[in-house]
Amino acid sequence: MKIEIDRPRCEGHARCNAIVPELFVLDEDGYIDTDGFDVPPALEDDAEVAAASCPERVITVVR
Ligand code: F3S
Repeated sequence: MKIEIDRPRCEGHARCNAIVPELFVLDEDGYIDTDGFDVPPALEDDAEVAAASCPERVITVVR
């Protein structure tokens, strides 16, 4: 499973980071600091919750 992030649309709500901080890293201004990544199997459920939590819908789960 992968996560893709439409980074320019991030508004810094930080809900993703609050749920899985080790995957959804923020920059010094509080915006998401990655365009995407592979999700370790043990974190897939949490990553899906985090994706759904983003009010701007910038996080996409790819299987
Ligand atoms: Fe940005 Fe959404 Fe996370 S707006 S900081 S990707 S909750």
